Amino acid sequence: MLSRPRRNRQSAAIRDMVQETRLSVKNLVYPLFLVDGKKIKNKIPSMPDCYQFSQDLMLKEIETCMKKGLTSFVLFPAVEDSLKDAKGTYGYKKSNFYLKTITAIKKELPEACLISDIAMDPYSSDGHDGLVKAGKILNDETLPILGKYALAQAEAGIDILGPSDMMDGRIAYLREELDVNGHTEVGIMSYTAKYASAFYGPFRDALDSAPKAGDKKTYQMNPANKLEAIREAELDYAEGADYLMVKPALAYLDIIHSLKETFPLPIAAYNVSGEYSMVKAACEKGWLEYEKVMPEVLMSIKRAGADVILTYFAKDYAFMSA
Ligand code: PBG
Repeated sequence: MLSRPRRNRQSAAIRDMVQETRLSVKNLVYPLFLVDGKKIKNKIPSMPDCYQFSQDLMLKEIETCMKKGLTSFVLFPAVEDSLKDAKGTYGYKKSNFYLKTITAIKKELPEACLISDIAMDPYSSDGHDGLVKAGKILNDETLPILGKYALAQAEAGIDILGPSDMMDGRIAYLREELDVNGHTEVGIMSYTAKYASAFYGPFRDALDSAPKAGDKKTYQMNPANKLEAIREAELDYAEGADYLMVKPALAYLDIIHSLKETFPLPIAAYNVSGEYSMVKAACEKGWLEYEKVMPEVLMSIKRAGADVILTYFAKDYAFMSA
């Protein structure tokens, strides 16, 4: 036999030496949910081992993660219904607890990299990512609102903006808004190919942010489409995005692969709530082995081409690999 692939698998040393893809905690970003208040750590029933934290406990959580080498975080606010309105104005109010927490974390832990969420849904009484009028999601009228969020977050000290809204033209709009106001150093991680996915269910439970009427199919992408992801990526690339994101990750590995092959930018992938919860649930039942399945999931996303992986597994991975 001329070729025997098993020769390269015969010992741990050899297997390690020829390993093609390596995953590090440095590739991971940990999503965290923020609530207003003090000493709050609320369980999220559909996302075992994930919590809503108040600022004080979130600071502790971030510090714990940083000691294990996990240094990047994406923050999502869980906003009380009484603060929501049709125009999502709370998102840029001076009193906004999310903005204050960004400032507090950057002050206490300046080495942490913080990524924001930019979309109207946490603040909107309609629960949509854009402005709603007569049942329609308005595009161009949404951009100035997103611009206000961007500016408020930049002023609060955010490192990277994360527009997750899927409005057309938002990357150029936000880049311009940042630049003319002197925030040229703030990056943009664009949710470039964000699909209208059923895998976001547990996240919407965590934030109580599900749309009040209709669905998100007029702005998030059809799960059947791949060329459209390339088209979205071409726009974001041309408009000045610093990262292109695919979301969800596990069910969209082919999209991650295509973007990685096509664009000279770091590719991010969001291993979303539903992808997390289904693994957790199967492991709780004893049907899958968490310590083995979880790194395999993350490795598959890395192998597909993701440079950066946003994942609720990040903390467990950091502790396992430390
Ligand atoms: C909303 C937003 C969503 C997620 C991140 N930002 C949900 C949605 O689009 O409805 C989902 C993240 C997850 O499921 O883990 N702008």
